[in-house]
Amino acid sequence: MEQKHLGKIGPMVSRQGLGCMGMSILYGQPDDAASLSTLHRALDLGVNMIVTSDAYGNGLNETLVGKALAGRREEAVVCTKFGNLALAGGGDTGFTGGHPSHVAIACDRSLKRLGVDVIDLYALHRVDPTVPIEDTVGAMKRLVEQGKVRFLGLSEAGSDTILRAHKVHPITSLETEYSLWSRDVEDGILATCRTLGIALMAYSPLGRGFLTGSIMSTEALGEKDGRRNLPRFKSENMAKNVELLEKMSHIAVSKGVTTAQLALAWVHAQGADIFPIPGTKKVNYLEQNLAAAELQLSREELDALNQLFSKGVASGGRYPDPALKGLGI
Ligand SMILES: NC(=O)c1ccc[n+]([C@@H]2O[C@H](COP(=O)([O-])OP(=O)(O)OC[C@H]3O[C@@H](n4cnc5c(N)ncnc54)[C@H](OP(=O)(O)O)[C@@H]3O)[C@@H](O)[C@H]2O)c1
Repeated sequence: MEQKHLGKIGPMVSRQGLGCMGMSILYGQPDDAASLSTLHRALDLGVNMIVTSDAYGNGLNETLVGKALAGRREEAVVCTKFGNLALAGGGDTGFTGGHPSHVAIACDRSLKRLGVDVIDLYALHRVDPTVPIEDTVGAMKRLVEQGKVRFLGLSEAGSDTILRAHKVHPITSLETEYSLWSRDVEDGILATCRTLGIALMAYSPLGRGFLTGSIMSTEALGEKDGRRNLPRFKSENMAKNVELLEKMSHIAVSKGVTTAQLALAWVHAQGADIFPIPGTKKVNYLEQNLAAAELQLSREELDALNQLFSKGVASGGRYPDPALKGLGI
C-alpha cells in the first residue's frame, strides 16, 4: 500500500490505517483471534498505521495491539490516545484526562501495554475543558523530549484549540469523524488543519458500519451493541437513513463495488491529506476496504454522492447531545 507523510511533519504512513476500537468494545462480540489475524494481515499488506486508545476497554485494546506488534514493531506506526475518561469508564489517576500529571501516567501505562519503547503518534482523545490546552500539550511535548513519543495529535478538537495547541508543539494530525453522513469537519476544522499542515485521520469512515449496508435496522444490532445508544441507529431515525443508503447502493451497483468501498473512496477523494482509518475484526473486510483505496470516482459519481449526502442530511446526531457538547471545543 502506498505511503505518504502524515501531514507536513509526520511519519510515513499507509494511505489507509486500521482502527482497532471495534475489536474490543462497542461493536458486537469481541473475537481476539480474528482481530489478531486481521492486525497481522494488515501489516502483511503494508497497512502500518495502527490506531488504538487507552480508553478502548480501559487498556484491553492496547494490550491486544501489543500482542500483534510482538516481533513486528518496526512494521507499524503505533498511534494511541489518552484522556477520554468517560469512554474508559472513569479514571484512576486522581486527575482529569488532560491534566499534565495524568498525561505522564497514561503514557507510561500505554507504553507498557503496547510493549513498545516509543509511541509513534500520541493524541489527546478528548479536549479537557478544565485544563488549558497549552498545559495538556505542554505535558505531551515533554514526552517527546523524553523520547517516549514521536509525534503529537488531537482528536475531535475545534479550530481555536488546534491553533493554540500548535503554538506549543507542532501537531501532526487530528483524528475526527468524517464520512458521507458526518461532514461537520468541512465547516472550518478541515480548513484550519490544512492551513497548519495537519493531517486528518478520518474515523468511522464507514459510518460505524452503517454505510456498509449490513445494518438496516436497530434490531440488526446485538442487544449490547454500543451503536444502540447513538441517535442515528435509533429506530426513529433508522428508516430515513436507510432510504439514503438504498439510493447510495444504486451508485455502488452501477460501479460494481460495495457501498462500503464507495464510502471509503469518497473519503479518499476529499484530499491527499485525509487518511481514513476504517475498523474491522475481519480479514475479508480489511481486504475489501484496502481495495477501496485504489478506487477512482468520476466527477459525476462524486457529485451524485455529495448531492445525496448533503451536509446534515443524516437523521439523528452522530453522538447523543451531552457527548456532542464535548466535541469541537
Ligand atoms: N477519536 C475518536 O473519538 C474515535 C471515535 C470512534 C472511532 N475512532 C477510531 O476510528 C476507527 C474506525 O471507526 P469505527 O470502527 O468507529 O467505524 P467504521 O470504520 O466506520 O465502521 C466499523 C464497522 O464497520 C464494519 N465493517 C468494516 N468493514 C466492513 C466491510 N468491508 N463490510 C461490511 N462491514 C464492514 C465493522 O464490522 P466488524 O467489526 O464486524 O469487522 C464495524 O462494525 C475505530 O476503530 C477507532 O480506532 C476514533
